[in-house]
Amino acid sequence: MDIAFGIDIGGSGIKGAPVDLRTGELTAERLRIPTPATSTPLAVADIVAKLVGSFELPKKAPLGVAFPAPMDHGVVRFIANLDKSWTGVNLPALLRDVTGRHVTAVNDADAAGIGEQRYGAAKGRKGVVLVCTLGTGIGSALIVDGVLVPNTELGHLEIDGVGAESRAADSAREREGLSFEAWAERLQRYFETVEMLLSPDVIVIGGGVSKKHTEFLPLLNLRAKVVPAKLRNAAGIVGAATAAAVAHGGATKTSKKAKS
Ligand code: BGC
Repeated sequence: MDIAFGIDIGGSGIKGAPVDLRTGELTAERLRIPTPATSTPLAVADIVAKLVGSFELPKKAPLGVAFPAPMDHGVVRFIANLDKSWTGVNLPALLRDVTGRHVTAVNDADAAGIGEQRYGAAKGRKGVVLVCTLGTGIGSALIVDGVLVPNTELGHLEIDGVGAESRAADSAREREGLSFEAWAERLQRYFETVEMLLSPDVIVIGGGVSKKHTEFLPLLNLRAKVVPAKLRNAAGIVGAATAAAVAHGGATKTSKKAKS
């Protein structure tokens, strides 16, 4: 199978595009629809159906969904940044009903980890790799010798008495109007705690703000090698599409053209 459709459901936008699994590239321009203010399962499912319906897709192309919550075999375990009524929802079942396609759902940061590992900054890396997404929340994907340990929730570590993502997510930088220097101090505190607990060899920084990595990555002083994500904020779409292809139809070999 060469094409799968990837969707990334976030706190501010829902984005989707078809992905060529041989190269990890989007085969059409990504479409983005703002996340509705009341982000209930039905409201979001409606947008997902619209996104999928906006592209010409092979009939059997599966749908991979990156979702901002721990996914217990497709079921949302708890939700920090969307409507609370998501808890307990079986996401693949809901989206299969509205799209008629095979659906695989994974945590959004895990999706980014899968994307970066197969096509991007984590490709070919051995040891302990931590992919962190900085956005509305902080997402984490832990990959050990190429194997993903799913559903790590390192954005919810409690540091200095507060949940880490409420201080160090990119949304905190924006909400509080922090300079990159002030934000980097918070990131330093966050990542040194993560380092103390997990000793990663490499930390890959993703999320939309990673395109401005030169503003804040050089300010961090960590033992791990810290690198920006290569797929930037397409990683969720690409990783979710990859997970869907693996689950429904077998993984396609990457071609030599695949980004490395
Ligand atoms: C959620 C995680 C998610 C992260 C990034 C956190 O609030 O609990 O599951 O990966 O935000 O969206």
